[in-house]
Amino acid sequence: MERLTIAIDGPAGAGKSTVARRVAQRLGYLYIDTGAMYRALTLAAQRRGVSPHDEDALAKLARALTIAFAPDGDGQRVLLNGEDVTDAIRTPAVTADVSYVARHPLVREAMVEKQRELAKNGGVVMDGRDIGTYVLPKADVKIYLTASIDERALRRQREMEARGYRVDLETVKEEIAKRDRLDSERAVAPLQKAEDARLLDTTGMTVDEVVEEILAACRTRG
Ligand code: C5P
Repeated sequence: MERLTIAIDGPAGAGKSTVARRVAQRLGYLYIDTGAMYRALTLAAQRRGVSPHDEDALAKLARALTIAFAPDGDGQRVLLNGEDVTDAIRTPAVTADVSYVARHPLVREAMVEKQRELAKNGGVVMDGRDIGTYVLPKADVKIYLTASIDERALRRQREMEARGYRVDLETVKEEIAKRDRLDSERAVAPLQKAEDARLLDTTGMTVDEVVEEILAACRTRG
C-alpha cells in the first residue's frame, strides 16, 4: 500500500503529539515531532549560553546539531548529538524560550531542511505548527487539531503533573496563550490552518475518537 505523508498542526496543548504518535503506530509509520526538534535546539543553546535572540548563532548551532528519534515502547526518545534529551527538553525553562528561538527565519530554514529530509520517503506522521502550510505543503492528509483554551490548559497541566511538575492551571493557560500568540504572529511560517487542512476541534473528544477520525481521513485521503 502507498505510504502516505500526514501533517498534523495546531496550537499548544491540542494533543497533537499523543494523537500523531498513535496514528503513526497504527499505520506502522515514522512519527516526527518537530516541536521536539525546536526544543532540542533551545536546550543546546541554553547549555552553550547562546541567547534566544541571537539568530546567527542559533542558526549555526541548528546546522551543526544532529537530532534523531529512537523508538521506545509506545513512545520515542529524542536524541541530541546521540544524548537522550527526552525529559530535558520538556522543562519549563525550555518551554519559556522555545518560541523565541523558533521565530528566526534562519533557524527555521535549517530545521525545515532536516524535517523534509526525514519525511522524504513517505510513511510519516509529522506534527508541528507549519507542516501543512510550509514544511510539507503536498502532504496527502492535513489535519489542524485544536481545542478550547481551557481544555488545552487542563491537558497540559496533567501532562506536566505526570512528569512530576506541580503547575497552577492559570499559569499554564497564560503560558499556552503566550506561546500561541508568538507562534501565530511571527513573520515566517506562523501557526495557521492550511486552506486544505481538515479542522478537528477535539474539545470533549477522547484520544481514541480523534485517532479514528484521522485514520478515516487517511482512508479517504481527506
Ligand atoms: O509542539 P511543542 O509545543 O513541543 O512545540 C514547541 C514550540 O516549538 C512551539 O511553541 C513553537 O514555537 C515551535 N514550533 C514551531 N514550528 C513547528 C513546531 C514547533 O515553531 N513546526
